[in-house]
Amino acid sequence: MHVDPLETLRGRRSAKWRTYPDDVLPLFVAEMDYPLAPPVAAALHAAVDASDTGYSLAQPDLGVALAGFAGRHWGWDFDPGAVTAVADVGVGVVELLRLLTRPADTVVISPPVYPPFFDWAPEAGTRLLEVPLTGEFRLDLPALEAAFAAHPAVYVLCNPHNPVGRVHTREELTALVRLARLYGVTVVSDEIHAPLVLPGAEFTPLLSIPGAGEVAVSLLSASKAFNLAGLKCAAIVTGGPALAALVGRLPPDVRWRTGHLGVLATVAAFKEGDAWLAELHAELDERRAQLGRLLSTRLPGVRWRAPEATYLAWLDCRALGRDDEPQELFLAKGRVAVEPGTRFGAAGAGYVRLNFATSSGILDEATARMAGATG
Ligand SMILES: Cc1ncc(COP(=O)(O)O)c(C=O)c1O
Repeated sequence: MHVDPLETLRGRRSAKWRTYPDDVLPLFVAEMDYPLAPPVAAALHAAVDASDTGYSLAQPDLGVALAGFAGRHWGWDFDPGAVTAVADVGVGVVELLRLLTRPADTVVISPPVYPPFFDWAPEAGTRLLEVPLTGEFRLDLPALEAAFAAHPAVYVLCNPHNPVGRVHTREELTALVRLARLYGVTVVSDEIHAPLVLPGAEFTPLLSIPGAGEVAVSLLSASKAFNLAGLKCAAIVTGGPALAALVGRLPPDVRWRTGHLGVLATVAAFKEGDAWLAELHAELDERRAQLGRLLSTRLPGVRWRAPEATYLAWLDCRALGRDDEPQELFLAKGRVAVEPGTRFGAAGAGYVRLNFATSSGILDEATARMAGATG
């Protein structure tokens, strides 16, 4: 896939390109360096040409586009009317938690996990309980059962799981749904990385598990796979009447906060983006393999498990230092910015998260600099 030269990429004004000085290679935040999918770019150009930049009215187009995508890619068929637009996944989760919890309740998460998972429950005015993944980065089902037995209000699932790149299996999700039903816990499933499941793995939508619709609500978005984070559009999907009624109680203003350009781009991505997405998967598969080769030759002390999904690599750098020392070393001496592991929870000490959605040249240069920093 084409990637613009660094000088051109540095002209972008998003967080990835504005956070660090120009001598730093930014492989931290989850943005991609590839050009937009042509149907998405065309939809945005057409909107601008028509001065079509008012408020969004997402439905029915968003629901139809997302249901079509889910049916084609995952065999998951649902009513397009079960979709509700929100500004982004974070807004959707927080608004759902406000409805699902009271201050004395707890919300369970499984670190290491995407940093805002630690912030969403407090933002919604409730408490957090951590039930870490196992050493193999799998859901710790016995520990979750022990936690669920104390009747927390909500479990926030990350599937696929950022930062470890694990795609939870149908068996694991079936077991999770059983526990949620048994103990009366609602599962909020963040499936933002679902369109980024790479060759070799298969995505199971939580709501495709029998009985899940009674206890679970999912959030999906085109923003990771199509690089649309700044356009502000995500979707809540329900699979049963009780949770549909709950979503119906979201504050009416929430839908007005969704980005109109985000809706237009998302509809184009989900309707017409399949060919481009297949190219992206092939590209990320190659970058993932390249990173594996570069790590083993240049940074043999760094260990990893190649992710099954996402373009994020969770690198065990404990041989290089404690806490966030490896990230500090790579930045200070290598001029490469990666995410410090402790942002993902205490279990992230000594880890970094590296974004490999870039060109082979930049990945080559970044790993050479990282290796140089350790010398
Ligand atoms: C697991 C996960 N959820 C949510 C988000 C953020 O989504 P949004 O920008 O739609 O809030 C990200 C961003 O990388 C993510 O990795």
